[in-house]
Amino acid sequence: MQTNRTIILGIESSCDDTSAAVIKDGVLYSNVIANQKVHQEYGGVVPELASRAHQQNIVPVVTKALSDANVNVNNLSAIAYTNGPGLLGSLLVGSSFAKSLALALNIPLIEVNHMQAHILAHFTEINGATFNPPSFPFLCLTVSGGHTQIVRVDNYCEMEILGQTIDDAAGEAFDKIAKIIGLTYPGGPLIDKHAKLGNSEAFKFPHPSVPDLNFSFSGLKTSVLYFLQKETAKHPDFISTNLNDICASVQKTIVDILIQKVTKASEKTGIKTIALAGGVSANLSLRNKLIKTGEAKKWNVHIPAFELCTDNAGMIATAGYYKYKDKQFSKITAVPLARLKF
Ligand code: KG4
Ligand code: ZN
Repeated sequence: MQTNRTIILGIESSCDDTSAAVIKDGVLYSNVIANQKVHQEYGGVVPELASRAHQQNIVPVVTKALSDANVNVNNLSAIAYTNGPGLLGSLLVGSSFAKSLALALNIPLIEVNHMQAHILAHFTEINGATFNPPSFPFLCLTVSGGHTQIVRVDNYCEMEILGQTIDDAAGEAFDKIAKIIGLTYPGGPLIDKHAKLGNSEAFKFPHPSVPDLNFSFSGLKTSVLYFLQKETAKHPDFISTNLNDICASVQKTIVDILIQKVTKASEKTGIKTIALAGGVSANLSLRNKLIKTGEAKKWNVHIPAFELCTDNAGMIATAGYYKYKDKQFSKITAVPLARLKF
């Protein structure tokens, strides 16, 4: 049965989540994510294991996304996939699958930048939920495991990075500090959980002095490490007895650094519509602090739905939908890039 609807299949495989989603006329009907637990015991993502898990997951995940959305593969209008940035082996699994399927079905192939897709998650209309996307232009604080960026967004496809991290990303800082204090990977959600029970003023950590709208988080990681080494030398059970306070204090430092820079970006550009995106946008303290700051500064703040914060193919399908409307199709010879820029 042929259909006049625009139906996009999105595929995400940039890191350790295999995901597929279906969007019909801009509305999300399915968003299936297979997490890879295999990395937990290593304290971080092991690239080779990630590629292998993607290979095992991709067919069942795509099959489930199509069936959840009640879509026959022959009715797809186009296939959108992540072509970077990310782990090359992981990207190759998703891109090869997307290319083969697009070729077999003779439909357009659309490559999507993962970081732009995190931002465009704000335009993912969830079936049955209220939809209130930001208006252009807006600033997006994109905070993930691999990136920390302040982006000026002028349109679905026109974006400019105004500032970014010069070393570790915010999510990376959460994960590395979590590892130091003995929490499993990914540590961000666990720090978030313990922080809720702790005193964020218990310990003070320095803020980096980085010019302009750029960030640095590797110094914070080192200062937490030295602080804990010093304290555990005096009291061997310092971490276990102060876990909640350590998490709350570290989290407050990261959140304050992020909010200060986004405030500076708003003052510099005069833009008062501010959005949050990326895996770290699931952090409760960051969400609350941005809302509070927005109230004080009279910003129009946009916080993503929890299910669209961390990696998912819904955001890839959304980016693909807008590129499809703009007829931005890719060649079958497109190559995924680990360090893809905007
Ligand atoms: O966007 P994402 O799913 O993957 C990348 O593109 O990197 O982000 C993953 C990152 C990880 O570093 C993870 O620890 C962090 O997001 N994260 C959080 C929370 N949930 C996920 N960090 C702090 N608090 C959270 N609740
Ligand atoms: Zn991501």
